[in-house]
Amino acid sequence: MAGSAAQRGFWASRFGFILAAAGSAVGLGNIWKFPYVTGNNGGGLFVVIYLICVVAVGLPIMNAEILVGRTTARSPVPAFGELAGRRSPWVGTGWLGALAGFVILSFYSVVAGWAVYYAFVSITQGFGSGTAAELAQVKTLFAGLIKKPSLNLVLHGVFMTATVAVVIGGVQAGIERWSRILMPTLFTMLIGLAIYAMTLPGAGAALDFMFGLHTEQLQPAGFLEAMGQAFFSLSLGMGAMLTYGSYLPKDTSVFKSALYVAGLDTFVALISSVVIFPVTFSYGIEPSAGPGLVFQSLPMAFSQMPGGRVLASLFFSLLVFAALTSSISLLEVVASTFIDLYGWTRKQAVVLMGLVTFVVGVPSALSFSVPAFGERFKGLVGKSFFDSMDDLSANWMLPLGGLLIAVYVGFFMESSRRQKEFEEGTPPWAYPPWLALLRFISPIAVALVMLKSTGVLKLLGIAS
Ligand code: PHE
Repeated sequence: MAGSAAQRGFWASRFGFILAAAGSAVGLGNIWKFPYVTGNNGGGLFVVIYLICVVAVGLPIMNAEILVGRTTARSPVPAFGELAGRRSPWVGTGWLGALAGFVILSFYSVVAGWAVYYAFVSITQGFGSGTAAELAQVKTLFAGLIKKPSLNLVLHGVFMTATVAVVIGGVQAGIERWSRILMPTLFTMLIGLAIYAMTLPGAGAALDFMFGLHTEQLQPAGFLEAMGQAFFSLSLGMGAMLTYGSYLPKDTSVFKSALYVAGLDTFVALISSVVIFPVTFSYGIEPSAGPGLVFQSLPMAFSQMPGGRVLASLFFSLLVFAALTSSISLLEVVASTFIDLYGWTRKQAVVLMGLVTFVVGVPSALSFSVPAFGERFKGLVGKSFFDSMDDLSANWMLPLGGLLIAVYVGFFMESSRRQKEFEEGTPPWAYPPWLALLRFISPIAVALVMLKSTGVLKLLGIAS
């Protein structure tokens, strides 16, 4: 086993792991999705519920995932095979994860493609110098982009190719090296932009929107979205953290690593909103503008800022890289499953799976321009193809995967091994509260929210 672990590669240091895991967690989920789902759900109260989900559901499950990964030094399917037995149904948890990875990456790459486009536009022409006519043009840039089918396909293809290229490089050479340089730059830039945003006239309204408790605006579906967003943003429930944990040396604290990763991720989600909402409130963009929110609002701010063109180029390039450090973890899970199980070479697994993911993503890329995947699909299913993939993976597959991981590690993993592994590198006081949360809070919270959203509770007469 030691031999196979050495072949799979290790992180160069704990810092390397934290950066890479934070690189997986921090991505479009924080900068693109968190602000827009917060906007759709009326702000303040949604943010509070989100934070509760991160602490009570996300953190315990993140510990469990990293623990299983570090313990087995395997990707999700063989990891469950080793712990529970090869023929055990728990192995299905690993497969569900790999499947979720596919689904997420297929639409994630489309959004990342938009970021590529914005990086390209800011570098080659910028967003003007803030005249009324230019602002009006910037505002419609997004609507114009998503309506072009072939452009969306090209961008989706460019981003998938980049993802494949990095993942072929392997764990240390590829993933760790990139994260180490780019993540800190992104954090610094966001903090700088947040300070700028605070000087805008809409800052007060924005802070009130984000942190004031406007109970009346939260829809019941908001609970599921807050929970799904926590899973999505923390990269939980599909084995990404498990896989990254499998490259973690034994003496590294699971608990501390999880705290850092979740803390950084939450910080970036909040600070991105602190950048975006002042802009939306200052320039008359609805906070509920949807998936275009970040792409519509930020260019307007850059257009008026001194040095805006350089800053815009830097920001959208970093956004692409943040997306890349997340997409590589998605592809890594899928690919390492095939490497570990079937002995494929890394190159075979990555190229083939990258190709399949690209194809699965085509209808998502066309969701905004081809009615069969957009309006007409919505007529049949209730949501566009793109939105369906997002909803299916973030709100259902990830929470279900997380629930299964929590129940397995909480109740079925051999208890002496669980405790010994957890306490390796972590002070013993942390074990009982972690286990209590993992057993009794995380799975129950996930189950309740899911049952409520499927209407099962209503059927049983438990909730209205
Ligand atoms: N957490 C990533 C983001 O916020 C997306 C992701 C989800 C990555 C699940 C890996 C696994 O952008």
